[in-house]
Amino acid sequence: MIKGKHLIDPMDFTVEELNEVFELASQIISCPEKFSHVCDGKILATLFYEPSTRTRFSFEAAMMRLGGKILGFSEPNSSSVSKGETLSDTIKMVSIYTDIVAMRHPKEGSAKVASLFSTVPIINAGDGGHQHPTQTLTDLLTIKMLKKGLDNHTIGICGDLKFGRTVHSLIKAMSRYKGNKFVLISPQELKIPQYIREEILKKNNIEFIEVERLEDVIEQIDILYMTRVQKERFFNEEEYLRLRDSYILNKEKMSGAKDDMIVMHPLPRVNEISYEVDDDKRAVYFKQAEYGMYVRMALIAKLLGVL
Ligand code: CP
Repeated sequence: MIKGKHLIDPMDFTVEELNEVFELASQIISCPEKFSHVCDGKILATLFYEPSTRTRFSFEAAMMRLGGKILGFSEPNSSSVSKGETLSDTIKMVSIYTDIVAMRHPKEGSAKVASLFSTVPIINAGDGGHQHPTQTLTDLLTIKMLKKGLDNHTIGICGDLKFGRTVHSLIKAMSRYKGNKFVLISPQELKIPQYIREEILKKNNIEFIEVERLEDVIEQIDILYMTRVQKERFFNEEEYLRLRDSYILNKEKMSGAKDDMIVMHPLPRVNEISYEVDDDKRAVYFKQAEYGMYVRMALIAKLLGVL
């Protein structure tokens, strides 16, 4: 029962609670019309202190497809944030006006802070380089639908493993399912944070390797999760320019992969997947973004307790 909960970290829900969300998402996928009025009279706030295409639009589309309404901002300077209003005061106000809030903020921990001042469910839509739990719901639903379940996969994660919040959330979430192994592919400078290596992988005896070359390992991988080098988290432009094209997945590299491997990416991509890969049946990143809307429909309905 997740009615009224906040979703700040992917581990806030038990595996059983996640299953409830995925079960509802697959019912919505089968017959979306059946759910088009379940949120009549409800309002979702989308507070985006950082840019977004998929997360904000998919939340808004999700609420509209459930019959609810939306309000919010995509540019904090259009609200009283520009006059110096604190996050806690903004959240107190918004939780009076609306029934549920999705918030993206550049500061790690901001969603947790918001949850302390809110009387309605807060959904973390990304807090700095920390977590992005609804991307994880999207990723898990995609894997469940396209790879027949969440167990026994070799998951290659490639690119910016240091700043990529989707990576941190995905490793945490997939570590709870049995038999999963990780192949972590990154330059030395962008390796996963120590806390993920020690507290999640080693502590739970999860098998993993860390390598620098995608070509050396691609043939082992069942799910290849490509990521963008996170320009906005770098302090040094030169360093970003040096690392941004560390990995470019193209047809040639794909020829070394399994026939049933899937390529995922949270998007947006910059250069890390060539456009020529889009036509490969193994490229599922646009399908993944579509599942993101359906899983957010299920999440909103469950948190509001309407289903
Ligand atoms: N995947 C994702 O978070 O995309 P946006 O930044 O466009 O929301």
